[in-house]
Order: sequence, then C-alpha cells, then structure tokens
Amino acid sequence: MRDDLALVEQEIATQNSEAIPAVAEVGSYVIQGGGKRLRPALLLLSAGLCGFRGKSAIRLGAVMEMIHTATLIHDDVIDEAGLRRGRPSANSRWGNHRSVLAGDWLYMQSFQLAMRERNFRILDVLIELTQNMVEGELLQLDLIGRIDVTDRQAMELSYRKTACLFSGCAQLGAVLAAQDPETEQAMADYGRFAGLAFQLVDDLLDFTSDPSKIGKPVLNDLRDGKVTLPLIYALADAGPEERDLVAAVLAERAFAPGQPEKILEFVRRGGAIERARALAHDYAAQAKASLPGSPDNEYRRALFAVPDFLLDREN
Ligand code: IPE
Ligand code: IPE
Ligand code: MG
Ligand code: MG
Repeated sequence: MRDDLALVEQEIATQNSEAIPAVAEVGSYVIQGGGKRLRPALLLLSAGLCGFRGKSAIRLGAVMEMIHTATLIHDDVIDEAGLRRGRPSANSRWGNHRSVLAGDWLYMQSFQLAMRERNFRILDVLIELTQNMVEGELLQLDLIGRIDVTDRQAMELSYRKTACLFSGCAQLGAVLAAQDPETEQAMADYGRFAGLAFQLVDDLLDFTSDPSKIGKPVLNDLRDGKVTLPLIYALADAGPEERDLVAAVLAERAFAPGQPEKILEFVRRGGAIERARALAHDYAAQAKASLPGSPDNEYRRALFAVPDFLLDREN
C-alpha cells in the first residue's frame, strides 16, 4: 500500500511535468505542498478489497488526486484564500489568471489519464462528480454571507464539496474490479458517509483546532461568510444578541476585537459542538456499516479503520 502510494505520487509528478512551465510550476508547487492523499489511499484500498490488482488503480489514484488539486486551486481563487496547506496559495503567488488556467489544465490532464482505461463507466463517474463539485461551489456562492443557511443546505454542500469525490474514489475501486452493482453501490455509500464525516470534522476544526496544526486560522469559515453545521446548531438556540454578533461578522467579513472569543464561547457553551460531533460519529458508523462483509482481508480492516481515523484527525 505504501509502495502503491509512492507510485501514485510518481504518476502525478509525471503527468504534471507534461505541462508547459507556466502550468507545471503551479501544479508541482501545490502538489508538493503536502496534503494527506486521502483520496488515492481510498481508491487503492477499495480496489484491493474488491480484488483488483494492477496499474490502473495507481493511475486512477493519481487521477483523483489531480482532480482534488485542481478543485483546491480553483477554490482558493474563488475564496480569495491566501494560504493552502500552510503555505501561500497558488493565487497569492501567481495570481488568479494563472491559477485558473493551471486548474483547468490539471482537470483535463486527469481526464486524459482516466481515458487510458478505455472504460466509459469510469468517465461517467468522474464527469458526474466533477460537475457536482462545480455546482457545489456555485451553490456555496449563493449562500455566502447568509445567516439563514439550513442544515439541509449545509449537508448538500458537504456532499458536493467533499463526499462525492470520496464516494467516487471508493466506487471506482469496485468499478476496476468489475464488481456487481450492489457491491459498487456499497462502496460508493461507504465513501459518501466517510466523506460526510470528514467534512463535518473539517467544519468542527474551524471551531476547535489549533491554527498551527490545521494550516489556517480558527473561525476561518465564518470570516469567509460561511455558516457551517456547528454554527447552524448554535444559532438555533441563540438569543438576539448572539445572532447579531454573527450577523455583524458576516456583514463585515472581519472580526472586531473580542468577537472571535465571544463567538467561540457561545458555540461551545450551547452544546453545538457535541451535537455536530455526534453526527460525524453517526456518519462514520454508517460508512463502516456500508462496507461489504467479505472478504475479511487487510484492505477491509484498513477501510474499516479509516472513518475513526477521520474523526480523530487534527489537520
Ligand atoms: C481539503 O481537503 C478540502 C476539503 C474538502 C475540506 P483535504 O483536507 O483532504 O486536503 P489535503 O489534500 O489533505 O490538503
Ligand atoms: C474546499 O472547500 C474544497 C473543495 C472545493 C473541494 P472550502 O473552501 O470549504 O475548504 P477550504 O477551507 O478552502 O479547504
Ligand atoms: Mg476554500
Ligand atoms: Mg470554498
């Protein structure tokens, strides 16, 4: 598995190096900036569980990480983010124009690599999830700055932004192994629930993390105008003063002195953190319950452990 991840890394570097320097420089900077490589890991484990052996899993692992990288580059342009993976973002180093084009190039290169499989099922999955992610960014734009985001809307964003890519990774392992539709669906469900747990933990870390570990400041989402599930829960029980405080930050897109402390205090006090954590645990349990019962091998044991690992992460 570790060897396979190293091969994925090589494949990504090879693919990126096919670009002209103006693009390759951006790609290799973001790719080398770190990242947990969760998506290729998921794909490799799923392929392993489903009984597939071969180079295609390495290639598709690279495809998924390249799609992820492209969405991060574009996302940082949209969010005007200054930091990614604890370093200056691509847009802050090279500007929006080059970043957008580098992201476009990476998307197309990833699809070209996927084309080598000559398998339309794979393209179907990839196109659907990429469009889902783009639509998620568009829906998010409409909700920026709004205090009345519902929990359903927040869940839909989590699905589109994160869970559909996780789901695609787990599903494609089954597609490579030419598994029956039920197994393919079970793996897709596994990835979806794991992705929802992952995104919810991401939302929680915005309220609970140590900024030096996560590589971005605390209450970053709120300052960007994003109301996520923990805050939605807290607002449901909030008094007018607390709502006004949140509304003021959403209007200003900045914190006045003392506001972050007050917001953290009110979100933590009302039990919203525990409620969101309980839901994340629930998703993790559903992910595990979705896994096919057999074969009971090392891949299955690893996939069974992943959701708990996602719950415990600190970055
Ligand atoms: C970041 O994903 C974007 C989200 C979906 C929250 P990761 O946290 O997996 O990012 P890297 O690849 O490890 O940097
Ligand atoms: C980024 O979403 C992830 C994707 C678009 C896939 P966010 O904007 O919510 O997350 P970060 O904080 O930039 O990673
Ligand atoms: Mg962002
Ligand atoms: Mg965003």
